[in-house]
Amino acid sequence: MNRLVVIVATLFVPTAYSAADGLWCYHDPSCDDTTWSTIAMGDTTLTAFTFTKYGDNSTMKTIKNTGNTVKVELMSGVQVTGGALSEAYDSLQFHLHGATVPQSLGRSTTVDGTRYPMELHIVNAKSSHNGNTTSAIADSTGLAALGFFIEAMPGNATGSPAAWNTLTSYLANITLKDEHVNITHAISLDELLEGVDRTKYYRYLGSLTTPNCNEAVVWTVFKDPIKVSKDLIDLFSTTVHIDHNTTSALMTNTFRNIQPVNDWVVTTQGRTASGASTTCSSLGLMALACMLLRV
Ligand SMILES: *[C@@H]1O[C@H](CO)[C@@H](O)[C@H](O)[C@H]1NC(C)=O
Ligand SMILES: *[C@@H]1O[C@H](CO)[C@@H](O)[C@H](O)[C@H]1NC(C)=O
Ligand SMILES: *[C@@H]1O[C@H](CO)[C@@H](O)[C@H](O)[C@H]1NC(C)=O
Ligand SMILES: *[C@@H]1O[C@H](CO)[C@@H](O)[C@H](O)[C@H]1NC(C)=O
Ligand SMILES: *[C@@H]1O[C@H](CO)[C@@H](O)[C@H](O)[C@H]1NC(C)=O
Ligand SMILES: *[C@@H]1O[C@H](CO)[C@@H](O)[C@H](O)[C@H]1NC(C)=O
Ligand SMILES: [Zn+2]
Repeated sequence: MNRLVVIVATLFVPTAYSAADGLWCYHDPSCDDTTWSTIAMGDTTLTAFTFTKYGDNSTMKTIKNTGNTVKVELMSGVQVTGGALSEAYDSLQFHLHGATVPQSLGRSTTVDGTRYPMELHIVNAKSSHNGNTTSAIADSTGLAALGFFIEAMPGNATGSPAAWNTLTSYLANITLKDEHVNITHAISLDELLEGVDRTKYYRYLGSLTTPNCNEAVVWTVFKDPIKVSKDLIDLFSTTVHIDHNTTSALMTNTFRNIQPVNDWVVTTQGRTASGASTTCSSLGLMALACMLLRV
C-alpha cells in the first residue's frame, strides 16, 4: 500500500517544493516538522492504529545503555496493527535519541535547529517473521518505527509524568555503556505516550543506502509531542555516558542524522493536506534503518 503511494506520487512531476527545496528533516527550522503539514500528501488509507498490551504495566523487561541510546526491551505479545500497516507488527523495543543541551539552561527549542530535545522510537517487526530479524531486514516493510517527539513541559513542573519519573529513575543504574538492569516497576507504554493523539501522524518509507544496509523501514511520526518535565529530560543528558567509564562523554546529540538521499513521499491523514492541494512534492529523506537495528 505504501509502495503504491510512492509510485502514484512519482507519476506526478514535482512542480513546486514547499519546504527547503523539497527536503524533509527533523532539526532544521527550514524543513522540520513545522513545515511538514504543507508538504505531506493526503492519504485516506492512513487509519487509526490498534495497540495491543500498550496499557499493560508489566511489558518492559530491561533498560540498557547501548552507548548510542537508552533502550528498553519489551516482552512478547506487545503489538501494533492498523495504521495502513499490512499486518500485525510486534513491538520489540523502544529507545531514546537526543538531549542536545540541558533544558534547564533555558535554550530548549532553537539550539542547533532542534525544536524538540528528544525523540522516542518504538521498533516493530512484522509478526510473520516470528522474531527472525534477519528475514525482517530482508523484507522492505519488515520493520516499522513509531516516532514520537518529546517536548519540555511548560512551567515549573518536576518529576512528571509519573511514568517518566519512574523510567528515568533507572538511568542512575545504567550510567555506563552496556550496563542494563531489569525493570521491576509497573510502567505501561500508554503512560509514557500520554497526551499524544495517536490518530494523527505522518507516514513515509525511509531507506538507508550505505553498504550492507539498504533495508527500508515504514516510518510513522506522530504529530503531537510527549510532554515531559525539564528535570527528567535533563537526566538523559547529564547521567548516561557513551562508553565504559565516566571519563567518556555524556550521551548527547544522538539524533538521527537525516540527509536527503532519495525521492520519497510523506503522507498524512485526509484527502489533501493544507497547502498541498495542487502540488505533489517529491521529498528527499532518509531514515536510519541501520541505527534502529544497531541500538
Ligand atoms: C498494573 O496493572 C494491574 C493490572 O491491570 C493493576 O492491577 C495494577 O494496579 C497496576 N499497577 C500499577 C502500579 O499501576
Ligand atoms: C531467519 O531467516 C533467515 C532468512 O530468511 C533464514 O535463513 C534463517 O534460517 C532464519 N532463522 C531462523 C532461526 O529461523
Ligand atoms: C516558576 O518558578 C519561578 C521561580 O521559582 C517563579 O518565579 C515562577 O512564578 C514559577 N512559575 C510558575 C508558572 O509557577
Ligand atoms: C539502581 O540504583 C539504585 C541506587 O543507585 C539502587 O538502590 C538500586 O538497587 C539499583 N537497581 C538495580 C536494579 O540495580
Ligand atoms: C532479570 O530478569 C530475568 C528474567 O526475569 C531473571 O532471570 C534475572 O535473574 C533478573 N536479573 C536480576 C539481576 O534480577
Ligand atoms: C576510559 O575509557 C577509555 C576508552 O573508552 C580509555 O581510553 C581510558 O583510559 C579509560 N579511563 C579510565 C580512567 O579508565
Ligand atoms: Zn531510533
